[in-house]
Amino acid sequence: MIGPAFALASPFLRLMSPESAHDFTLKALSTLPFPAAAPDDPALAVEAFGLRFPNPVGIAAGFDKNAVAVDGLFRLGFGFVEVGSLTPRPQDGNPQPRLFRLPKDRGVINRFGFNNEGHDPALARLAKRKGAGIVGVNVGANKDSADKAADYAAGIRAFAGVASYFTLNVSSPNTPGLRDLQQKTALDDLVARAQAARDEASRTHPRRPLLLKISPDVSLSELDDIVAVALARGLDGMIVSNTTVSRPADLRERGLALETGGLSGAPLFNLSTRVLAETAKRVEKRFPLIGVGGIASAGDARSKLAAGATLVQLYSALVYRGPGLVRAIKHGLRGA
Ligand SMILES: Cc1cc2nc3c(=O)[nH]c(=O)nc-3n(C[C@H](O)[C@H](O)[C@H](O)COP(=O)(O)O)c2cc1C
Repeated sequence: MIGPAFALASPFLRLMSPESAHDFTLKALSTLPFPAAAPDDPALAVEAFGLRFPNPVGIAAGFDKNAVAVDGLFRLGFGFVEVGSLTPRPQDGNPQPRLFRLPKDRGVINRFGFNNEGHDPALARLAKRKGAGIVGVNVGANKDSADKAADYAAGIRAFAGVASYFTLNVSSPNTPGLRDLQQKTALDDLVARAQAARDEASRTHPRRPLLLKISPDVSLSELDDIVAVALARGLDGMIVSNTTVSRPADLRERGLALETGGLSGAPLFNLSTRVLAETAKRVEKRFPLIGVGGIASAGDARSKLAAGATLVQLYSALVYRGPGLVRAIKHGLRGA
């Protein structure tokens, strides 16, 4: 059982640096032969983007950037797995330390900077998989890329045969200039080129839904523009949100809060849920939304659904609550 294995390991995990603990967890998920979670109650199933999700709880991007533990994540009970962010060429990301736990706040700060092995290894792993399940591929741009939109298009072309859906990540705070792609003209160009790549790939593969993942730090007028572009271009959905560069005034870990990077976990919940609700108000159900940011319980997941999400994702709460959280959330949602 993964649960006891993690419980036994957790004192050691806490002694390790957060990044080593994460690498250890991924290794365990990809190698331990733990049994699969019980099949989902059909009442939990959700239709969105033309896909049928067995339950609405997904693992957010960044947990399994290189697609090494996809089957293990499905065995934990996630209804879908989003891998990435993946860039065309491998890159090391920022120097360590670059991942920080804020235990008193149940938060995490990261400034990884898109460390990943590049398209090829992840593609080989996904192509070799025999298991089923909805696998989203989250694409990004190399830090030193002169034409960032071209990197996103390359990701879509590369993964068209293995992705259930694509996410355009224009919201990581750790790649300089990336979030500028959320500005109206740049976003319109990016979405147009990503769609052209998707439509070209649709000649040989099924048409894959294209989603946009945004920052919770956009202003309401920027959000007006983003939703206008998404609707005008016919995007299939949006993910709200990525991590925040803001620091709520009531954070208890004052020293750690000074670390540069994106904040996630419980301190992100209110902000990301507010931006989700503002997005839903503008989208008026013309496409589905995925709510992410600070979910640590079934009640949190329900709040995201109430704010306009059709599906949810989480990452940081796993650090504090362990893998049993997925089952607990599904159980709570079923009883809703
Ligand atoms: C360590 C870490 C790495 C992340 N890497 C990515 C990434 O590569 N791409 C991405 O779109 N989001 C990334 N995220 C953001 C998460 O997908 C999610 O949007 C955010 O953490 C909020 O959810 P949470 O509060 O449940 O963690 C990362 C988050 C963390 C904590």
